[in-house]
Amino acid sequence: MKNIRFIVQPGGALKGRIRVPGDKSISHRSIMLGSIAEGTTTVTGFLEGEDSLATLKAFQAMGVNIDGPNQGKVIIEGVGLHGLKKPAYALNMGNSGTSMRLLSGIIAGQDFDCELIGDASLSKRPMKRVIDPLTLMGAKVESQDKGLPPLKIHGAAKLNAIDYTLPMASAQVKSCVILAGLYAEGETRVVEPAPTRDHTERMLRGFGYEVNVTKLDELATEVRVKGGGKLTATHIDVPSDISSAAFYMVAASIAKGSDLVIEHVGINPTRTGIIDILRLMGADLTLENEREVGGEPVADIHVRYAPLKGIQIPEHLVPLAIDEFPVLFVAASAAEGQTVLTGAEELRVKESDRIQVMADALHAVGIDAQPTEDGMIINGGKQSPQTAPIISHHDHRISMAMTVAGLTAVAPVQIEDCANVNTSFPRFIELANSVGLNVRAEEA
Ligand code: S3P
Repeated sequence: MKNIRFIVQPGGALKGRIRVPGDKSISHRSIMLGSIAEGTTTVTGFLEGEDSLATLKAFQAMGVNIDGPNQGKVIIEGVGLHGLKKPAYALNMGNSGTSMRLLSGIIAGQDFDCELIGDASLSKRPMKRVIDPLTLMGAKVESQDKGLPPLKIHGAAKLNAIDYTLPMASAQVKSCVILAGLYAEGETRVVEPAPTRDHTERMLRGFGYEVNVTKLDELATEVRVKGGGKLTATHIDVPSDISSAAFYMVAASIAKGSDLVIEHVGINPTRTGIIDILRLMGADLTLENEREVGGEPVADIHVRYAPLKGIQIPEHLVPLAIDEFPVLFVAASAAEGQTVLTGAEELRVKESDRIQVMADALHAVGIDAQPTEDGMIINGGKQSPQTAPIISHHDHRISMAMTVAGLTAVAPVQIEDCANVNTSFPRFIELANSVGLNVRAEEA
């Protein structure tokens, strides 16, 4: 892949109204559920990024007729729960953990074998977390050493329902088990130790499938699904991705003089940790025009510059902001005082080790950031010029977070290996420049 280098000039304020691309998690699920539903599902606002396109191509390879995306519109001719066909080749999930983990759950219930492969980053990410429950359900999954991809899944046409407590708060593992549960005999029960994004549960209901959700205590929730039902085609309107909006929320919060509205952003309560954390740091964020779109709450987010202060990030907010820490570390770097994050060891197994990679990137731009086993300590408010190149390590969110860091830097910031922003945020640079950042992309 080409090395696309970003060069960010410091300074500038963000002004205007923008719309960021569609939600990645919801886009993946719209293809998956639309494909195994009966009838024709239409999707609007679909994220035309490499990750969600990997999911789309995988279902085409399994015989599903999918038209688009065409300016965010996708038409899926569902084949029903049992209509998928054995693909002629290994399914390439690219950089996308969501594709690999959720698809594993669906493929476990098919009567064919299938191989799932990924890029250099995905090939290092842990899959034992899905292999274990799928094995308990009766599927056979082969992996490389230590549960790494590629995965070879030998589906079992009839899976057994299980009662499974997730060892970590993970929406991908929860969703994998729920999706396999659609193919199981009896009722599958999944208990999550803390709330994680619930798009699978909501969307299944949107497709007319019964899902029972019960809160067990302050944090834990159980989800129950019975196998053997059917999904009925529907229309899905995908809101903008709060995880993409997050880069602009932080950018406008730290750049003096900013006043920005980010329109039509999904504010599902399992995703709004970024808003809560930024507000605790003193950010000026208001939700306007709150409404519901296809079972998901949506709002316009109005962000004005405000001086931020360092905080101890409450641990219960960690799963609710799990993808936003790279850019939250940038907010902490611009904030006065110390920010401490704990309880976030999951960051070590994302598209990159986001604790180490962000600590290195922040050091490179002169920020005092100390990585810890499960988080980071950042002493913000003071910064020196860049001393080393920033490397994104195949991680889109590192590229974008460090672009935002350029706003308050004392000299231009250079970031290597940024083509990966296309996995989740095509046209990130164009949008950034249109609201007042000064970023240039060049081929290195
Ligand atoms: C996702 C769940 C999260 C998140 C990922 C998308 C999903 O992963 O980090 O970007 O769509 O279910 P985990 O479930 O591994 O925390």
